[in-house]
This record gives sequence, structure tokens and C-alpha cells, in this order.
Amino acid sequence: MEEKTVYNMPGYSWNINEKKYQDFYRQSIKDSDLFWETQAKQLVQWKKSWTKVQNWDFYTGTIRWYEEATLNVSENCLDRHLQKRADKIAIIWEPDNPDEPTRIIRYAELHRQVCKCASVLSDLGVRKGDRVCIYLPMIPEAAVCMLACARIGAIHSVVFGGFSPESLAGRINDSKSKILITADQGLRGGRYIPLKANADKACHQTPSIEKVLVVQRGKQDINWVAGRDVWYHEQMEKASDMYDAVEMDAEDPLFILYTSGSTGKPKGIVHSSGGYLVYTACTFKYVFDYREDDVYWCTADVGWITGHSYIVYGPLSTGATVLMFEGVPTYPDASRFWHVVDKHRVSVFYTAPTAIRALIARGNEFVTCTDRSSLRVLGTVGEPINPEAWEWYYRIVGKQRCPVIDTWWQTETGGIMITSLPGAMNMKPGSASLPFFGNVPAIVDDKGNVLQGEANGNLVLTRSWPGQMRSIYGDHERYVKMYFSTYPGNYFTGDGARRDKDGFYWITGRVDDVINVSGHRIGTAEVESALVLHESVAEAAVVGCPHEIKGQGIYAYVTLCDGYEPSDELQQTLRGVVRKEIGGLAVPDVIQWANALPKTRSGKIMRRILRKIAANEVESLGDISTLADSTVVEKLIIQKKQQK
Ligand code: WT7
Repeated sequence: MEEKTVYNMPGYSWNINEKKYQDFYRQSIKDSDLFWETQAKQLVQWKKSWTKVQNWDFYTGTIRWYEEATLNVSENCLDRHLQKRADKIAIIWEPDNPDEPTRIIRYAELHRQVCKCASVLSDLGVRKGDRVCIYLPMIPEAAVCMLACARIGAIHSVVFGGFSPESLAGRINDSKSKILITADQGLRGGRYIPLKANADKACHQTPSIEKVLVVQRGKQDINWVAGRDVWYHEQMEKASDMYDAVEMDAEDPLFILYTSGSTGKPKGIVHSSGGYLVYTACTFKYVFDYREDDVYWCTADVGWITGHSYIVYGPLSTGATVLMFEGVPTYPDASRFWHVVDKHRVSVFYTAPTAIRALIARGNEFVTCTDRSSLRVLGTVGEPINPEAWEWYYRIVGKQRCPVIDTWWQTETGGIMITSLPGAMNMKPGSASLPFFGNVPAIVDDKGNVLQGEANGNLVLTRSWPGQMRSIYGDHERYVKMYFSTYPGNYFTGDGARRDKDGFYWITGRVDDVINVSGHRIGTAEVESALVLHESVAEAAVVGCPHEIKGQGIYAYVTLCDGYEPSDELQQTLRGVVRKEIGGLAVPDVIQWANALPKTRSGKIMRRILRKIAANEVESLGDISTLADSTVVEKLIIQKKQQK
């Protein structure tokens, strides 16, 4: 598995070169307080300064940065740019349908809209500390609403538009959100997404919701609940465009974002205001080699952490021009990304390996028929990128002119943690490269011994960084248990990693029961819980399996109750159950009927074996002597063959 190519980016004068990276990194580790103090002063405008830069303890899970400092995040993203950048474009919005007009929002206008929106929310009763749930498509109003919450000091909880009413309700109830902001509909790849209808269904079971604010995106007729539903545009029209940003403590939560874990329900990841903003601004600036005249495009949805950190908070606090795209890479055809790049002269482009692989499958002509000469930096995020996809991105998309930056991080980390920096280091296709400033990763074996030099094991982070999550909403104990108890004194990432002789990190994927489908995290336990809701299902076990485009697919083993027979209809029914409970993104790619599941004598399902069977690696099943009934395995293999 040794790396095959090492690229050096010639010629260009990058913000950070090899020597600067090393000096800077060394300083950031040697005097972390000084480094993060300097960054905080340079990148963020504070109302009151801190008494202590960092104060944390990985044994108790107490994380505090910039103690006693105060700021307002929306003020940082808007007001402070008005002097120099009032007319600079903040958001370029590119609609799903290329025939619809682009929307251009300058910093002054964005500021005005955010102030108005803050007034609207305030009139609806939102106060500092209240939770506001945002269930919107990729339209500028999503960013406006997030920033309006930040202006009031309300905590937003954005829920991706692909989640079902059930999932939405679960998140609203866990966070006890007071207001739900949604749209009449979403539009992706020419298809309507019935957001308001989903929201209505969710609200049957959400007692905390007082008002539903509805943004008008389309013309579809929608159901209207008098007294509860309010049109966004009507309120905005009459709202005041003045709203003083509320002074927030650096440690006050900025938002909650739900993500899947290895067990139980999704957890509400809580991020801070001050530390989070410093970290996203700092990583944005260095990882993307930011220049004032960049047109920066991150293709993620704001419903994920990538959208929070690298569409909204990182870029806007930096005063960047951000492109926001409503659509999908293959609509109207597989050239769409590159047409948009050419149309708006995009210089920095950040996407996911799954999108790259989907485009590779459509052929090079869709790329080569476009110009792409504006591109300067290419980034990737979400899952390990296979070297073939990396090469294609580098050679075909970037014409070998642009560094490809592989950024490893997580919802929990708030920002990029291990990454290459443009021009500052060699690139090894498939490696996330080296730690970002201030970070000290380590590789530990299963007993927690720290491995030195070249190593393969579990990835931990040995010290805090400002963007680190602060808690799981409403369940701090779970936070401590999930992240700090496995390898005491360290933050456990849940990922496996290898470190090579040059100190480069190669992420090998999750070592827990989380699967990564198209860069989206799905807990196997969640899918299993959904499946067993159906009366026909006695037992279900879900694992990840290799998938050419998605990276990992979802493979479900299902044991039926007596009286039920396997059938294609039943498969469809079960897929429907998962779609309803979680959303389309969690629907199994394969459902294999299983007479029984491989279990240890104590009754624990041996997922290792199920993963091997799903991946067609039955020659290397490993030790199966601890199984209660080892004939189960043979039967599963036969059943798999028969089902094909
Ligand atoms: C998990 C986190 C970070 C924003 C999107 C995903 C995997 C993420 C990489 C990468 C290899 C990666 C890890 C991680 N992952 N980026 N560059 N190389 N793996 O956020 O949903 O919280 O998922 O995604 O397994 O733990 P997330």
C-alpha cells in the first residue's frame, strides 16, 4: 500500500511554502497559546478580550477557549466587512435550473437581509439561547437564517433537506426548537422536494414548535396551518433592517448539528461561538490559500458541517465571495460543475470524492469541453479519496495546474484537522497528509499504546483545538463516554489511520459501527432500528460494503419472523420503511435474507464476518471458532449466491 506518486506544485507563489509550514507548525505546537491568540486577534473581531486562551481537560471532557471573551459571529461575518467590502459579492447563488437567473448578494445586502431576518425571528419570540430549526434547500435564505440566529444569539439546528419527517421531528424534539424555518419546496436535479409537506408531518409530533416560517422557493400549492405558518417574504418586507448584534460569550453555543454515532439516536453536536469562528476562519484562509479576489465554491449542502464551516462561517467571516449551488453535479448534464466554474470564474473548488467518482463514470468529454482556466485550488472532503479519483481530479479537472487538497475532519472537529496545504507540501494521492497548525494526532493500538513512527491503528487527537465540539446537546455524559473514555487523555476520532515514513496520514475509514455513504455518516444501529419496526422483521444487521461511486453502500441482513416469506415486494416495503424513518440516504443498497445471523456464544452479532460476506471476501473470514453456530456462515454465503 505504499504511495505511488508525489507531486510538487511548481511555480506559483503560495501563501505558505514548505519552510513556512514547518516553522509555523512548530511554533503552533511549542507555544499553542501564542499561536491561537495571534490567530484570534488577526481573524476575529472581539467585543471583549479573553483572560485565558485555552482551558481544557480531555479526562473530564471540559473544553474552553478564549475564556470570558465576547463577540457576535454574525457581526464578524457581516458588519465588519461593510467599510471595505460593502459592494463585494458575498454570495453568488446558482439555481438548479441553469435557465433560471443567478442571484448576486453583496455584503451590504446580506447584512440588510440578516438584520431583517433577525427582526422577524425576534418578533416571533426568538431570544438568546432559544433553538431554531432550519430545514431549507440550498438557497441564500439558509445562510441568512443561520446568520440571523447568530445575530440574536439563538442556537440554530440545521436539518438536511433529505431527511424524512420522522428524522426532522426527532431533531426538533431533542433540541426543543421553538421555530421551524422551511420552504414550500426544494428543487434538485429538476425534481421537487416537498419540504413543507415534510415539515407539516413532522410538526404533528413536535410540541415545542410555535411558528413555522416558510420561505417561498417555488409555485407549488402547499398546505397552510393558520396561526402557525408565516410567510418569510411577507415578514421580511415589513421587518426593520436594524438589529443590534447580541454580545455573546466565546463559549456560548453557536449551533447544534445532528450526526450519526455508532449507537442510538443521532447526537446533537454542539459548537461554540468564539473558538469555532477562529478555527473555521483560520483553516479557510490557509487550506484554500485564500486571496481577496477568489471566487470560492464548496459544493456541500448547508445541512452538513461542511456547509456550516466552509460555505457560511469560514468564508463569510473572511469576507470571501462564496458560490452557493442549489443543484446536483449531473443536471442537466455531467458538465454542470464545470459550466458553473466557467460562468463565475471559480478559483477554489471544494467537493467530495463521491461526486468525482460519479463524474468519472460519465466520461472525460463532459469536463474537457469546458475551460476551467480560473481554477487554482481543488479540495476534497468526506471520505477517503481513492488514488484513481485523485489522479482524475488532478489531471483532467485541474489540468495538473492545481494542487488537490485532501482534507480530513469530522462534524465533531468543526473544521479541517489533517490536510495538505497548497504549495506547502508534497501531495500523495489518497493521503490527507499532515496535521493543520496546532493539531497533534497520534496513532494508538487497541490497548491505547501510542505507536511511534510508521504505524497503523486508531486515530486520536492528543490536544484540543478551538473548533472542537463542546458537548452533545442534552447529554454531556454521552459526550465524555463517546470521545474521551476509549483512550483516556485523548479525543477518539472513530477512524483508523496509517502513518507513513514521511509522517503523512492515510485515513483507513471508520473503526466503529458508522458507515460513510457518499460522504454522509450513517449509523448502522439507526438503520437496524428502522428495519425492525416492520412486523415482518425478526432481526436485522447492517454493515457497509464497497460501492464504486458512493464509497460505501448499505448492506442489510434481515431475518424474517415466522409466517413471512422473502419476496421482492417485501424488500421494497422494507426500503420504504427506512426511507420513511430516516430518509432516502439511508436506504439499503442490498437486503439479504438471512435464516440466522452469526453470533458469539454470548449472543453478540459478529459484524466482522457480515462485512466480509458483503464484500465478497469469504476466503479471509478469519477465526470463526467463537461462533455459537458456525454453520450459519456457510448458509449465509449460499443464500447470498442464490439471491443474486
Ligand atoms: C468522517 C466524518 C468532515 C466533513 C464531512 C464529513 C470521514 C472525512 C475524510 C477524508 C478520509 C474522511 C472520516 C470521518 N472523512 N473526510 N478527507 N479522508 N476520510 O463529516 O459526516 O462528520 O464524517 O468522514 O471517516 O470520521 P462527518
